[in-house]
Amino acid sequence: MSKQFWKGSALLAPVPAALVTCGTPDAPNVLTVGWTGIVCTRPPMTYISVRPERYSHDIIMKNGEFVINLTTESMCRETDLCGVKSGKDTDKFALCGFTPVQAHEVDAPLIEQCPVCLECRVTEHKLLGSHTMFLAEIVGVDADEQFIDGKGRLDLRKCGLMAYAHGEYFALGRKLGDFGFSVRKKKKRIRK
Ligand SMILES: Cc1cc2nc3c(=O)[nH]c(=O)nc-3n(C[C@H](O)[C@H](O)[C@H](O)COP(=O)(O)O)c2cc1C
Repeated sequence: MSKQFWKGSALLAPVPAALVTCGTPDAPNVLTVGWTGIVCTRPPMTYISVRPERYSHDIIMKNGEFVINLTTESMCRETDLCGVKSGKDTDKFALCGFTPVQAHEVDAPLIEQCPVCLECRVTEHKLLGSHTMFLAEIVGVDADEQFIDGKGRLDLRKCGLMAYAHGEYFALGRKLGDFGFSVRKKKKRIRK
């Protein structure tokens, strides 16, 4: 397969289209973020990269907190809306019908309609160029009980999570395997 060589660009896909909340439950704001990921397991650390001109930027800078709310297929339209409208002039919670819920460890609210919410406290920030990267510790996780089975396991397959790739939104497809399946020994079938 021959490949064209292009100059460097931010072409990593798929990424989440997460709803990042900031502010307080009484004065909440939310913006859509594609530039996010996990950077450490212990302690659990994440980052979001936000342009300084976003209304949310200064709120996160001032409060040092935010929540990453995972998005589902059923909230695709609202996720896009939160990425094209600004909290400067729009109440996006009201516009999208989102319910702000008090978090446990941070003042920034959770979105009730999102299946999993990561409560984050900023540890460092760095202006990289177009974006400020906020490095943060995940200080709490709020998982919707309807997706937790009797053994306390979270089943993300049931949430209908959404992904974002090169300007387009996608539903996750069918399961192809699970962690380590490529090297796992198959269980022998006992013939009766
Ligand atoms: C799918 C998608 C991903 C986005 N990712 C980012 C991002 O990673 N960083 C960022 O600063 N803006 C991103 N944006 C744009 C902001 O969400 C958008 O400018 C929003 O209106 C800012 O809201 P605010 O002014 O209320 O903070 C994204 C938009 C969309 C639709």
